[in-house]
Amino acid sequence: MVNRGGTCVRRTQVGIVGAGPAGLFLAHLLHRQGIESVIVENRSRAEIEGTIRAGVLEQWTVDLMNEMGLGARMMREAHFHSGITLRFNGDSHHIDMEGLTGGKRVTVYAQHEVIRDLVAARLEDGGEIVFNVGETSLHDLDTDRPKIRYRCGKDGEVEEIHCDFIAGCDGFHGPSRAAIPAAVRTDYQKVYPFGWLGILTEAPPSHPELIYANHERGFALLSTRSPEIQRLYIQCDPKDDIAHWSDDRIWSELHARLATKGGWSLTEGPIFQKGIIAMRSFVCDPMQRGRLFIAGDAAHIVPPTGAKGLNLAVADVVVLSRGLVDHYRSGRLERLEQYSATALRRIWKAERFSWYMTTMLHRNEAETPFEQRIHLADLDYVVHSHAAATALAENYVGLPID
Ligand code: PHB
Repeated sequence: MVNRGGTCVRRTQVGIVGAGPAGLFLAHLLHRQGIESVIVENRSRAEIEGTIRAGVLEQWTVDLMNEMGLGARMMREAHFHSGITLRFNGDSHHIDMEGLTGGKRVTVYAQHEVIRDLVAARLEDGGEIVFNVGETSLHDLDTDRPKIRYRCGKDGEVEEIHCDFIAGCDGFHGPSRAAIPAAVRTDYQKVYPFGWLGILTEAPPSHPELIYANHERGFALLSTRSPEIQRLYIQCDPKDDIAHWSDDRIWSELHARLATKGGWSLTEGPIFQKGIIAMRSFVCDPMQRGRLFIAGDAAHIVPPTGAKGLNLAVADVVVLSRGLVDHYRSGRLERLEQYSATALRRIWKAERFSWYMTTMLHRNEAETPFEQRIHLADLDYVVHSHAAATALAENYVGLPID
């Protein structure tokens, strides 16, 4: 670090804003190819390692973690399922993802566990992650010396990272997307009229795999975190106040929505965390401006029903890292210039799948009775047609990156 006119300046090849899945995977992918990076993150290490997000990994994400030597704890502690259960009209239907996709499985490993593994390995490799930064802004993006300017802490000194490229991996509310001028950018968005109320409960698993239920009272999902901790969700009004939801009310909705004709029962336990999240689909096109490339939630959002969020962020940075590696090897920029177009082709397919799972599985009073019946027909089709089940399975376990 050098001091220029009172401002401390760090120099690196790729400056990364945000230590979520996109930023951390990118730093690891670049390091493996001998490319230096520095990550700045406005939260603390404890915060990023404790933020609870969806927990399903696509098969290639699991393979990538293993290839990078980051998968040891995941292979010990994750839950590997051969498929999922779709439940509607009181009947359960197993979708055999493993059989339908030539051996690809559903891996349940919470996002914050992935983050913990990636942060620890990055710091062990001598990588730099500057936590707790204050106000952050991006500069000189149309030159070949772009800069990240940030405050150390809330009221601290201003520092700068001078780099060749900036990766904006700073989530939906970070400054990166806003640095692509609105005049050259199209934002595509759909807001759903429902949200998810999610709980963590101390209880043993009630079922060996995830259950996605469409019930007349609304959607419900049963997932897991560990042999002792389960994650469950119910569809609710996104504007509802969590204070309206006593534990008894939550359990009674879960029992009703997950009930089967077959006598299966849900095991209750103490609820130790609960909250409501809104649901939206969002895509920003293009995902680049000059020497800034945005990835993950900074560029797109999916509703959690397809379990795609983390995987989509990792796929972006795999594409981005290839462009950066090509540049540092050959001096060419062509592959990097293709980043947005290449990433968006896969992103739109994941957006389609997440929207499809969401509309098929939720109850939406704003829809016509005709549309609501179409979703039930869709479910009936998926569980009785090999072709339709295969299409669902190949999307769920993850489409190829190329
Ligand atoms: C979760 O375990 O949090 C989870 C699982 C599957 C989803 C969404 C969330 O589709």
